Amino acid sequence: MARIPTLEDLGDVAGKRVFVRTDFNVPLDEGKITDDFRIRAALPTIEWLESRGAKVVCASHLGRPKGKPDDKYSMAPVRARLAELAPDVELLENLRFDSGEEANDPAFTARLIEGIDLYVNDAFGASHRAHASIVGPPKMLPSAMGLLLQKEVDVLLGLRNNPKRPFVAVLGGAKISDKLGVVEALLDVVDALVIGGAMCFTFFAAQGKSIGDSLFEPDQVESCARLLSSGRTIHLPDDIVGTDADGAFATFGTWLPDGAKGFDIGPGSAAAFSDVIMDARTVFWNGPMGVFEDERFAAGTRTVAQAMAETKAFTVVGGGDSAAALAQFRLEDDIDHVSTGGGASLELLELGDLPGLAALRAAPNAPAGNEE
Ligand code: 3PG
Ligand code: MG
Repeated sequence: MARIPTLEDLGDVAGKRVFVRTDFNVPLDEGKITDDFRIRAALPTIEWLESRGAKVVCASHLGRPKGKPDDKYSMAPVRARLAELAPDVELLENLRFDSGEEANDPAFTARLIEGIDLYVNDAFGASHRAHASIVGPPKMLPSAMGLLLQKEVDVLLGLRNNPKRPFVAVLGGAKISDKLGVVEALLDVVDALVIGGAMCFTFFAAQGKSIGDSLFEPDQVESCARLLSSGRTIHLPDDIVGTDADGAFATFGTWLPDGAKGFDIGPGSAAAFSDVIMDARTVFWNGPMGVFEDERFAAGTRTVAQAMAETKAFTVVGGGDSAAALAQFRLEDDIDHVSTGGGASLELLELGDLPGLAALRAAPNAPAGNEE
């Protein structure tokens, strides 16, 4: 099997027009970028190419416009920020303004690469999508993964294939259904799984506990029961913070009365989860422990984030919500690797490959030989 070509495998880039697929799908609030992490993350690749004399043309999607132009999703704010960071880069309009992008239409790919000599994929966060700009150009042009994509793949496949132990995965967020595949894959490689967020209520239901009116997924109870009987170490919360039947702030054990709703793990669980994180040598975290946007329900996520920052373990955080939580608590600099991908990081951990990586391996310039 060919290996994924790197920037060096492009040969001499001087004077070449290089199309760089980036993931500039940044959070916007009333047209203003609230976090430019994904733009800054692409700069090393842009600088690598420009310093060797290449002309860089970037392109990305932004949000989910339905295959036609929509001002709300214009790249203008991104273009303005990029012009401050990398003034010589050209940035195309939102790729998803054309239905050919998501349909992976070869005619759209052909238009994208008109006048382009070389292709670079640095859009880790979108590489689980078999869209035209991700999988199309490597069929036609000498191609490579950018430095961001390479780093993400090294770190995440390192977790999957060769983690320092104990290796702990901390998962949160609302839905177990979104993460069932990755949870099952992780159970084979982790020493312990830590579960918080609303998804814990589906596990509680599987244990026959009373969850009041908390969010849960009835159709996933059976899957949770199966995970619980897998014989692996799964840590669930043993206290919960939320609201009682009158909507007042309340603390519960693992038995929630009628009308009660859980919105965060309790202080006892947060402390116990921190201990697991402190004792680990590798930790992967995806998904908040509670509704941290609401200060009343932020403590669980904050405590876990602080343990992630303090542990001597190698720490990796994937997913926009967990990264946003770290940013809110100003702890992102204390994490070894904050992934730019949410869905992509989970899919890479689950399957060990992504459509965007497979496409690069099939590029005309891909070197023979196994990946190291
Ligand atoms: C993301 O933000 O997760 C990536 O940019 C992919 O976006 P998508 O989920 O709309 O494909
Ligand atoms: Mg550390």
